[in-house]
Amino acid sequence: MSRVNIATLRKMKEAGEKFASLTAYDASFAHLLDEAGVAVTLVGDSLGMVLQGEESTVPVTLEEMIYHTRLVRRGSERAMVVADLPFMSYASPEQAMHSAARLMKEGGAQMVKLEGGAVMVETVRALTQRGVPVCAHLGLLPQSVHKLGGYRVQGRDSETAEAMLADALAMEQAGADLLVLECIPRQLAKRISESLSIPVIGIGAGPDTDGQVLVLYDMLGITPGKRPSFSYDFLADTGSVAAAIVAYVQQVKAGIFPADEHSFD
Ligand code: KIV
Repeated sequence: MSRVNIATLRKMKEAGEKFASLTAYDASFAHLLDEAGVAVTLVGDSLGMVLQGEESTVPVTLEEMIYHTRLVRRGSERAMVVADLPFMSYASPEQAMHSAARLMKEGGAQMVKLEGGAVMVETVRALTQRGVPVCAHLGLLPQSVHKLGGYRVQGRDSETAEAMLADALAMEQAGADLLVLECIPRQLAKRISESLSIPVIGIGAGPDTDGQVLVLYDMLGITPGKRPSFSYDFLADTGSVAAAIVAYVQQVKAGIFPADEHSFD
């Protein structure tokens, strides 16, 4: 079985075939995701919250991301492995190139993800022109939680919605091969997905993106505290971790998840 890559995802977008993505932080879960047919395994800096018990993703270090990416890569043979560049590990294009190179060479990441719009154009261009595939991340930017003042739906007024569309186009233009949209109104996510030729993955962005991603521990119902309204406890319905992941993949591919109650207007 050959590994998913950016060409596979582009073909799926062109064919209108939806794909599933989940986070993973270790080899055993990465293996389960592969077995279930997850196309993109994201080593998210959400590990700061769900593994380390931190209040945000801000404290996560590059060393920690490299370590978890290496574990995931060992357990995964099929999914494309994308790793988050952690907070302030890409504050300049030079620092981003150094951090991305470590995630790829030491961790085995196939692609790096970074948060931010227009301000990241130069960095995305520098990375992609040197052979580093980039996943951009717009909408709710968890690394900016202290600046945003909380985890809230983004892009609800026409000004911020237009700015987000412009950012998305700028990311594609700069060479990004994938885009994550987090916590935005479904109509805006639909518009952005239709405006771009690169695949778009949504989380709390409604059903009309090319792919969907969730934080693994949220969709297994094991994250302490209140589950985000855009997520769903697939383990409660299925009774085993493996079956929960399979159910998620099937429901994303069939367009059943996310439903209206997991989307924002
Ligand atoms: O860190 C993460 O898990 C993420 C997803 C929420 C997209 O960035």
